[in-house]
Amino acid sequence: MMDEWHKQIENISSTAQKKIAHANTQEELASIYTELLGKKGVISTLSRALRTYSEEERRIRGPLLQSLRVTIESWYQDRLTAINIRPINKDIVCDITAYIAPTTYGGLHPYTHIITHIEDIFVSLGWSIVEGPEVEDEFHNFDALNIPPHHPAREQHDTFWLPTPHTLLRTHTSSVQVRTMMNRQPPLAICAPGRTFRHEATDATHDFVFMQCEGLFIDRNVSLAHLVGTIQICMQQLFRNYTIQVRLQPDYFPFVEPGLQFSVSCPFCSSGCSVCKKSQWIEIGGAGLVHPHVLRTCSIDPDIWNGFAFGFGIERIAMLLYHINDVRLFKTGKKAFLQQFAHVPQGK
Ligand code: DAH
Repeated sequence: MMDEWHKQIENISSTAQKKIAHANTQEELASIYTELLGKKGVISTLSRALRTYSEEERRIRGPLLQSLRVTIESWYQDRLTAINIRPINKDIVCDITAYIAPTTYGGLHPYTHIITHIEDIFVSLGWSIVEGPEVEDEFHNFDALNIPPHHPAREQHDTFWLPTPHTLLRTHTSSVQVRTMMNRQPPLAICAPGRTFRHEATDATHDFVFMQCEGLFIDRNVSLAHLVGTIQICMQQLFRNYTIQVRLQPDYFPFVEPGLQFSVSCPFCSSGCSVCKKSQWIEIGGAGLVHPHVLRTCSIDPDIWNGFAFGFGIERIAMLLYHINDVRLFKTGKKAFLQQFAHVPQGK
């Protein structure tokens, strides 16, 4: 029985290939197409016949039929293109009126949308956008941030160490804080989005390459109120929801004191939903007032200057905004994924 199905598919395939190859006009090709793939065509007839088989048999026969359908479709498209680009007479080598199959485009990557938006927000506040190297050294990634060798916080950063001693792929964008403070004089207001790396297993919410955004503000008499205000403006604009509140909770990061974790009130509900897991709050990132020891290491006098810093993951925001359920999708580069963002206006 199975052989019979195979034979039928093979027969249709070889006849179809010949017929399509011999079609010389669009009309001829169109009628062959109808004969093969039209509502009453051979493929549809076989499709109907398929329904009479058991589920198990359908699972074997179905894919054969589907692949025949796809192959015929591609022969048809190729032949159509060939017919259309044939010279109309021998003096004209290219028919400029030829039909061109519609092209499908991807769209800007969600990273581009979100990062452009974040940068616009901070630039509108008068901040600068800065970058730092992805291949970092131990000093900028750890030591200068109060994370000396053997500090337990290093263990939380599953680091990709590189063969050159004391060299690594940066585990966070906080290294850009250090580079900025060492190279510029305060007051400082910088935002640093960028790629970061952690040597850990991947799943739907973790990837070993991901994006973070760092913020650093250094001036005189800076308080936590400035931190809350800044984060609130940033989050309200990012989520385009101007009722969003920011909540701070104690946390520990060696380079800030006090160290905090910040959450936003759920932008999607008012009484608990599946996104905020009924808590009405969504954790976004870490923050705090820059540790005086970090300022000193960067040659900034903590008796004159102080400031705040914060960092958050960019994928998390994009996943919330665009309902993306697997972080690994960001790296696939698939057109089908990108097409979903083709209609998002830039920077939204
Ligand atoms: N670098 C931290 C991390 O990757 C996030 C962070 C926490 C950044 C507190 C900060 C901060 O600037 O103040 O987990």
